[in-house]
Amino acid sequence: MHEHFHLIHWAYLAGIIILFIILIWDVSQKKHSILRTYPVIGYLRYFAEALGVYLRRFFYAGDREELPFNRAERTWVYEAAQNIDTTIGFGSTRNLKPTGTIYFVDAPFPVLKRKIVAAQPVTVGESCRHPYTTSSLVNISAMSYGAISKNAILALSRGAKMAGCWLNTGEGGLTPFHLESGCDLVAQIGTAKFGYRDKQGNLSDSQLKKVAAYDQIKMFEIKLSQGAKPGTGGILPAIKVTHEIAKIREIPVHEDAVSPNRFPEIANSAELLDFIHHIREVTGKPTGFKIVLGDYKWLDDLCNEIIKRGIEYAPDFITLDGAEGGTGAAPMTLVDYMGLPIAESLPVLIDTLVEYGLRKRIKVIASGKLITPGMVAWAFCVGADFVTSARGFMFALGCIQALQCHKNTCPTGITSHNRWLERGLDPENKSVRVYHYVKNLEQEVGVICHSCGVEEPRKLKRSHARIVSAHGTSVSLADVYPNKKEGIKLKKQDHI
Ligand SMILES: Cc1cc2nc3c(=O)[nH]c(=O)nc-3n(C[C@H](O)[C@H](O)[C@H](O)COP(=O)(O)O)c2cc1C
Ligand code: SF4
Repeated sequence: MHEHFHLIHWAYLAGIIILFIILIWDVSQKKHSILRTYPVIGYLRYFAEALGVYLRRFFYAGDREELPFNRAERTWVYEAAQNIDTTIGFGSTRNLKPTGTIYFVDAPFPVLKRKIVAAQPVTVGESCRHPYTTSSLVNISAMSYGAISKNAILALSRGAKMAGCWLNTGEGGLTPFHLESGCDLVAQIGTAKFGYRDKQGNLSDSQLKKVAAYDQIKMFEIKLSQGAKPGTGGILPAIKVTHEIAKIREIPVHEDAVSPNRFPEIANSAELLDFIHHIREVTGKPTGFKIVLGDYKWLDDLCNEIIKRGIEYAPDFITLDGAEGGTGAAPMTLVDYMGLPIAESLPVLIDTLVEYGLRKRIKVIASGKLITPGMVAWAFCVGADFVTSARGFMFALGCIQALQCHKNTCPTGITSHNRWLERGLDPENKSVRVYHYVKNLEQEVGVICHSCGVEEPRKLKRSHARIVSAHGTSVSLADVYPNKKEGIKLKKQDHI
């Protein structure tokens, strides 16, 4: 008893000495003013700051409050991915009044459910040696092995196979994990050309041929820019560059993998078309590029260059990413300020292609927070051929929006290569969620179509959606973006 009392006594004394040392250290250090002024108790501030993120997210934030995705959106994806009932009671919590709100135009006589037909197939790159035909509507956007974990890729790849959609490899190159399930793949080539370069860093035709030889590789995508960070290349923080990733990318281990902010060989539209043409010639597969739009006028320049050279030089597709797009890691300045949101850029791209008579030739893939049925339907109304998403699929994999994707500490194992954290993500179980997410998303887009009176998503028109104006009343998208005359700008060209 006496000995026990003695131990407690010593523990108290040790505690007081430790607190005293911390107090002296806090008061004398110069880095943190809070700790200098409020030694020891100042740590409460850091504790509250760290805890606050979770308290706000799980307890205090309203259903429609958070960014990038609010709880209502996330819950819809979680439920769709688990294939549980997504119906709600009492009424909508969505505020229909703010300017820019989208809603759809219901038909007085909706299409009878039994009349709804599946989406028709679309062919990309009709004139290629190996065109790609698919009837998928929603596909998995680029996320590289590096930005996301091996288990995440396995789950996405198996889910894509079950759902019949494609998976984009991202700029980290093709890995055995992408190929494992046999799903359709889009091979992305980033500015560092990971997986497609020779020892000097130049584009390697033999590497291109090697990848193109896989039947699973359906298309090649040149990544000019990505919505979250136009003007900068990809960044894979050193902490995430493991031995395996370093080997696949042929880069030093545990050093930041920074891609150049532009392809050294592409400085203008003519060089872009040369690059596309070369890859298509070497691989025989549809080739296009991914971009976030800034200056609209550049599209005229690109289209004029295509017309000048001939339609065979046109990209087979353009993937248009909105400025609101996600990233594994990017500077906040670019994430917050650069590029145009998809709501503004998608109609401009579609209309420009129509005006140059290129719309049928060049397919358009849209992305940028298109993760719920309403937003996907909106993209089809505006004129997209396909929709892709990254973060919708991350939610399907269980992402809790902890916003630590760049730190290797992702609690759900999606963006972490820490063995224990990654182990938490079971590829088998999560692949079923990926499958259900695609299927339920497509089905509910079908429900919107049905209510609008059309049979399938690609028959949606701008007149099927309205947008709330500054006056508080809505205007038809068809009035905001009236249909352009096919080829109108073509006829103005002297050389045609
Ligand atoms: C973790 C993560 C990694 C990404 N990696 C790439 C990439 O390698 N290449 C690319 O073009 N885009 C990349 N993106 C962007 C997405 O492909 C997509 O364009 C963007 O997030 C918009 O879609 P979303 O709003 O549905 O997420 C990444 C996004 C995330 C969240
Ligand atoms: S849980 Fe957090 S760290 Fe993991 S993928 Fe989602 S946002 Fe990124």
